[in-house]
Amino acid sequence: MHLLVNDQIHLTEFRPSDKAACVQHLGDREIYDRTIRIPYPYTEADFDNWLEITIKATEQHGEPIHFAIRTNDDLFIGGCGFDGLTKGHRAEIGYWLAKPHWGQGIMSTVVSRACEHALASWKLVRITAHIFESNSASARVLEKNGFVCEGHLRKHYLKDGRFFNGNLYALVR
Ligand SMILES: CC(C)(COP(=O)(O)OP(=O)(O)OC[C@H]1O[C@@H](n2cnc3c(N)ncnc32)[C@H](O)[C@@H]1OP(=O)(O)O)[C@@H](O)C(=O)NCCC(=O)NCCS
Repeated sequence: MHLLVNDQIHLTEFRPSDKAACVQHLGDREIYDRTIRIPYPYTEADFDNWLEITIKATEQHGEPIHFAIRTNDDLFIGGCGFDGLTKGHRAEIGYWLAKPHWGQGIMSTVVSRACEHALASWKLVRITAHIFESNSASARVLEKNGFVCEGHLRKHYLKDGRFFNGNLYALVR
């Protein structure tokens, strides 16, 4: 699969050859701190498990639902994908970007394209996103894409022995 985002960014499946770049990018503690399910330290075995999950999801749904974010010279710089997909109804979106690429508008356009694809291809009426209350950049990405905050989730997350508040966002059509 190949989804064009703009003249600099496109989305494809994850590939075994993404392992070294993925381990390097997710070695960044700042990504771990802002996300819910990405392990830290992130190992090659974590990538192998992840690749297996994406392959099984592709088999289950007949097409990829997890996308590798790539530059136009095919460098792997992040991920964006869906979980809990029920075609004709809803799915949950998640995403991360390698730190050197933050603040350039990349994820805002990736989320826009991924949601456009999901809404049209899978006939979704609802896409949700759960984020840490403190993740202002992620909230902004969602709001710029029409997501609305539906709820404040007090002590919703338990991470490293601490409770964290969350926010539930949704895009409904
Ligand atoms: C969240 C993340 C994906 C954003 O990606 P990005 O490509 O840098 O985002 P964009 O450049 O498209 O947009 C970021 C927006 O947040 C804003 N922003 C950035 N840091 C912010 C902060 N600390 N407080 C408020 N807004 C902030 C930017 O100004 C921009 O908004 P604008 O276009 O109105 O100026 C990236 O920071 C990341 O990967 N973080 C770690 C993983 C993560 O948080 N994943 C999401 C888990 S739910």
